[in-house]
This record gives sequence, structure tokens and C-alpha cells, in this order.
Amino acid sequence: MRFVIKGKRPLHGRVKVHGAKNAVLPIIAASILCEGDSVITQVPHLEDVHTAVEVMSRLGMDARLRGSTLILRPAGLSSYEAPYDLVGRMRASFLVTGPLVARLGRARISLPGGCAIGSRPIDLHLKGLEALGATVRQGHGFVEVSADRLRGSRVYLDYPSVGATEHLMMTAALAEGTTIIENAAEEPEIVDLANYLSGAGASIHGAGTKIIRVEGVPSLRGAHHQVIPDRIEAATYMVAAALTGGRVEVEGVVPDHLKAVTAKMREMGISVFEDENSVLVDATRRRPQAVNVKTMPYPGFPTDMQAPFMVLLAVSEGMSVVTETVFENRFIHVGELRRMGVEVQVDGRAAMVHGQSQLQGAIVAATDLRGGAALVLAGLAAIGTTEVRGVEHVDRGYDGFDVNLRKLGANIRRVRLVAAEESEASGLGLGPTASGS
Ligand code: EPZ
Repeated sequence: MRFVIKGKRPLHGRVKVHGAKNAVLPIIAASILCEGDSVITQVPHLEDVHTAVEVMSRLGMDARLRGSTLILRPAGLSSYEAPYDLVGRMRASFLVTGPLVARLGRARISLPGGCAIGSRPIDLHLKGLEALGATVRQGHGFVEVSADRLRGSRVYLDYPSVGATEHLMMTAALAEGTTIIENAAEEPEIVDLANYLSGAGASIHGAGTKIIRVEGVPSLRGAHHQVIPDRIEAATYMVAAALTGGRVEVEGVVPDHLKAVTAKMREMGISVFEDENSVLVDATRRRPQAVNVKTMPYPGFPTDMQAPFMVLLAVSEGMSVVTETVFENRFIHVGELRRMGVEVQVDGRAAMVHGQSQLQGAIVAATDLRGGAALVLAGLAAIGTTEVRGVEHVDRGYDGFDVNLRKLGANIRRVRLVAAEESEASGLGLGPTASGS
């Protein structure tokens, strides 16, 4: 599958964002902890959500997505194994480990591999589970975790890992006694998970700060929960508006979750107006000025916006330095952007971007979710036609990306690659690499 884009059309209009992928995935894993049913609303239609639902079914749960409402019935929970084919497809499946140990006393999970953006270790997850009293054994590509009884503990995270914070917070909900997580990640998706768990009867304080306190409870019922809006999807549309010199209102957002991106865009001279649950980006007046960007854990500039934002910097006035501090290999999109005329030098964790590049349309291939989104954005700003291959990466994190961009005036079509082209693309190394991020 590929996107064919004819660029240089300013985007205008309104777009409504969906529920956050990175909030709903941990919530689905946490539903295993509950003895009652959960109803989750504002669930986006994404490949990763479909994979998470499949994992739940494999574990014996009844999981059904009706429109954007997900019904999770854990009564049939029977298996403690998460197989390679699913964890390999989506590493967030690994979050089912702690909940399975809490409910069934053990879990046997295929070790999540690395992915395009980095090795994605899970040492902080495993160290935390051991601190809660679990025994961890690794071998043959699997990790086996078991515990007769999980006990609360004080855990210090060497790095404010989003996944490790979520994993330990949800598992501690059913551990005996109190758990304190220090140096916790503060992302809004962690607060959303805590709100879901509290709705199910958990006792959690401090989510969204560096210290989270969990008082274990004997059991959790289910919960009704509406997922928070996707701040990365919202920021991606804000950047699309800015780099095409357009004027777009992004609706259904929590402006406070977008502060770092809004602040950077204003620093570039782009007008960004905030309303209660929408932001309006107006870049019709003049070319943005280049700025430096450094990705950091929330509330810093989000690493998931580094690739899309690099495209905006490439069409801005002046030089920028982009520093990626979160993942060790998150500049893979640079090679493809160069093919479109972007002048950028990478030196370790820093990339020097020369502004005012006139992007030219080209055939490019996505190799990860946000890098793929960046290539689509580059196509919107480029002269001529851009063909982005490997859009299945983009479909993992953006619900109806091409449909929404077309509504905003973009000339973008989704085209199936015929078999011959498919093999030629993969032969030329243009095809997408193995996913698994
Ligand atoms: C979550 O991944 C998101 N995924 C990522 O979004 C996001 O980029 C990332 O957080 C950072 O914000 C989901 O929520 C499903 P981390 P996660 O653990 O939890 C190191 C997207 O595009 N680390 O905070 O895997 C790790 O190597 C995806 O939507 C350890 O060293 O991120 C990385 O360098 C991509 N040991 C850093 O921490 C561990 O045990 C941040 O990783 C765990 C992580």
C-alpha cells in the first residue's frame, strides 16, 4: 500500500482528533486485572488497537470493538501466554505480563524485539516486577514471570520510562500493600490509565507527577472510561497546517497536552490560538523561522513529534539543531527526507537541518510510524508528486490520516501496490522493514 501525494497545497479547514493510541493500549492490558467488564469509548481504529484486541482474545478474554466503543470481558481469561506473532507485531503487548501474574500467578511472554527506532529494552519493567515480588526467568526468546503473591514495594526508575511506569502502576494495583514509583514518567497517557484504574476501584495517587503511590486492593471491578484525545495525532495536523502555509483548526484536543509543540511553533512565528478543546494554527502570513528542538520526557518536546517537526524545520528560514534524547536511533527518516531535497547532517543524537529546502516529490518508504507520518507531511510541502510506501506503518498510529488530510484540501490518494511493484519495492530496499516497534 502507498500514498500518492501532489504537494504545495495549503491546508484549510477543521479536523477532529481521535482517542489516544498510547492511552488505549495500556488500558486494554490493564483490563486483565479486572474481574468485571470494562467499556472503553473514543477508541481509535488503528492496527495496533486491533492487535491488542487479538491479544486479549488469545488470552481467553472476550474483546469486541463496536464503532469506537471497546467492550472487554475478562471472565474467560484462561491463558497466561502471549505469543511471538503478536508481541512481535506490537511490543506494547508486553504490558499484559504484570496483569497476568496478578490474576493467574504467571505469564509467559515472547520477548519484544527491538524496532526501527531503537533496541527498546525492557530491563526497567522486569526490575520493577521483581521488586513487586515476582520471579523472572528468560530463555529461548521468552520471559517467564511468576509470583504466588505480589507485594507492594518502593521502585526507583533509572529512566522515566512511559511503559515501565504504566506496567508497574497497573500491576501494583493488585499487589498487597503500598507501592511507591519514583522518577515515574509524567505523560498524560499515564494519568488516563490511572483514571481508568481508579474507576475500576484502584487506589492511585500522584499519576502525572514523578512520584506515584499505589495502595493495593484485593480485586478490581470493571470501569467505563473515555480515552483522552491523541496529542501526537493533534500535533501532526498542527505541523501539517504550518508546513503548507495553511490555516487549520484541530478540534477535540486538550490544549494543555500540546504545550511544548505550541510553544515551539509560536517561537517560529506561527500563530497558534488555543480554545477550550481546540487549537487553531494560522501559517498563512509568512514563512516560519527555524528554531532548535530537543526531545524530552513529558512535559518536554515529545520524541514522537521529532520526525514530523523536522519537516517543518526543513521548510523554515534558517538553521536548526534537532536533538533526540529519548531513543537511540530515531533519525531513520532522515535518509528518505534527503531524497526529497532536505539538507540535514546527523551527528549521533543531533541533526543539523538547513531551512528553506524546497522539497521535491520522490518515491520514499516508511520504516516506522512517526517517520512515515513525516514523509507524508514532506509530500504535502513538496513540488510535484511524492509516493510514500509502507503506509501500514502510518496506519498503526493515525486513524484515517489520508481521509482527514483530503478533507483539509490535500491531494493525497491511497493506492494499492500491485504485486510486481511490491516485490520490486522490497527488492530495491524501498519496502518497509520488519515492524515490531
Ligand atoms: C512509549 O513507548 C510510546 N508507546 C512511544 O510511542 C513513545 O515514543 C515513548 O513512550 C516515549 O514517549 C506507547 O505508549 C505504546 P519508554 P515506551 O519506555 O514505553 C528506554 C509511538 O510512535 N527504556 O518511555 O516503549 C528506551 O530504550 C511510540 O506512538 C529502557 O532503557 O517508551 C528508550 O530509550 C513510539 N528500559 C527510553 O527508555 C526499559 O525497560 C524511553 O522509552 C524501558 C525503556
